[in-house]
Amino acid sequence: MNLVKMYAEEVSLQLNGILQLDEVEKLIEKPKYADQGDLAFPCFTLAKMLRKSPQMIANEIADKIKNPIFEKVQADGPYLNCFLNKQIVSKEILQTLLKDGSNYGSLDIGKGKNVVIDFSSPNIAKPFSMGHLRSTVIGNAIANIAEKCGYRAVRINHLGDWGTQFGKLIVAYKLWGSDESITVNPIKELLDLYVKFHQEAEVDSKLEDEARAWFKKLEDGNEEALQLWKWFRDESLQEFSKIYQLLGVHFASYQGEAFYNDKMDETIELLKKKGLLHSSDGAQVVELTEYDLPPCLIEKSDGATLYATRDLTAALYRQETYKFEKALYVVGHEQSLHFKQVFLVLEKMGYDWANQMEHIPFGFILKDGKKMSTRKGKIVLLEEVIEEAIELALKSIEAKNPGLPNKEEVAKMVGVGAIIFHDLKNERQNNIEFSLEEMLHFEGSTGPYIQYTHARACSILRKSHIDLTGLNPEGLNDDYSWTILKMLMEFPSVIQRSFNQNEPSQIARYLIALSQDFNKYYGHVKILSEDQEQESRLALVKVVTIVLSEGLRLLGIEAPEEM
Ligand code: ARG
Repeated sequence: MNLVKMYAEEVSLQLNGILQLDEVEKLIEKPKYADQGDLAFPCFTLAKMLRKSPQMIANEIADKIKNPIFEKVQADGPYLNCFLNKQIVSKEILQTLLKDGSNYGSLDIGKGKNVVIDFSSPNIAKPFSMGHLRSTVIGNAIANIAEKCGYRAVRINHLGDWGTQFGKLIVAYKLWGSDESITVNPIKELLDLYVKFHQEAEVDSKLEDEARAWFKKLEDGNEEALQLWKWFRDESLQEFSKIYQLLGVHFASYQGEAFYNDKMDETIELLKKKGLLHSSDGAQVVELTEYDLPPCLIEKSDGATLYATRDLTAALYRQETYKFEKALYVVGHEQSLHFKQVFLVLEKMGYDWANQMEHIPFGFILKDGKKMSTRKGKIVLLEEVIEEAIELALKSIEAKNPGLPNKEEVAKMVGVGAIIFHDLKNERQNNIEFSLEEMLHFEGSTGPYIQYTHARACSILRKSHIDLTGLNPEGLNDDYSWTILKMLMEFPSVIQRSFNQNEPSQIARYLIALSQDFNKYYGHVKILSEDQEQESRLALVKVVTIVLSEGLRLLGIEAPEEM
């Protein structure tokens, strides 16, 4: 039930077509204070058109509106304040939500359309960084939200699996590597080899030449080089998938940079045909001077292709394969220039879909105010961080609820949920201070707080011993439940806003507010007392659990029923 629309219809009925229905609808506001009602229509626009004071207009219309879902419609200066009939409206909302269940809030704006989301995309043989964690968490939430809006979301992991570093790795492996230690601990071993290569190359410059030669062999399809590359790739991917499993993230495709190796000639041909390639110091570039940007490098003087060449090729491939309505790249700020260049080159190539591509940047993860780094020596291994969060969660569960049956499983949901929520609760462009202790609090703006609120609501339902399948709520009249009900009505528009702005934080903050409202309700109202309204109160608790768990699911977080 769209109350704004219903109110707009009533108002426009009294206006005899002076304003179109959708114009009225757009003008309707939500008043700041409860004593101004639930919806307000400002009469300023009408005042200009009718040459009457807005106060007069408000007075005239107020008397005429007589729909029973409005308890009263009152002129308040230039505003027409509308108070909804709590009993009728709440009955309607509760019944709708019970019927829709977890489908509540689903939209069809994306029906039949694809959104391609390029996210996570770590680099082979390097640690999964804090930046990759953010990309993974944000990208996955955006994909879930897109699906909720009716889109088909194509999750793509554009692995960094090609580049001169593989020449270096092959050389280092042949000189100092051991099969066994790579298999046991691939990321650490490969990183050590990489670091050792750089140290040794400082004294022995021949190493760089050898690395270049091996990379050339790799590009030319040399069997031995390819086999080593594939091995490094497989081992790294296996490590990454441990993290994806912990986070509950899946991809439709792991087609990374290497996938485009045999497709780039075509891109370069196209650029040539369109007259966009220019030589600059022996390299081939697309000039972007008209945008005040440095040229986009397409091919080096030795014929090697670049990161941008791969992204251009990937974009062409994805448009052809998925005919996307939108292509999103969830990648840190550092790469803003790169994506600007890639999108502009596509525009210069004449593709009108170039403006359907968007870079979704995000801030850094900080530790004590400094960027958390995965470079040399100082690596923070992400898997260990996640395991630590789960362990801490287990400890607090053991302290609070030692009898809980499936403690380990719940601890995983809470520990992982805490990390994800901490990432998503602020606008993505902000930096985040990483504190396991803080994000695991059961109170405050944390994932565990919302999970705990959900579990508390579930436990009330269990305690009621009432069969909840056939609930038939009659509606509620008190202010505490009204606040919650109005929040619940907001959910669909929060989802839409969150999608339009690529901001999962909209949903995260909504869940905090809803949890706070619910906990106030819980503190003030005897939910289980056996009176006439009990069934409606239980229905309210039930629909709160539905929206909390669905909201958490959109963020990529599980909602245990007990914790
Ligand atoms: N592998 C890159 C990195 O770790 C991120 C790739 C992002 N996606 C893309 N299509 N360029 O920095």
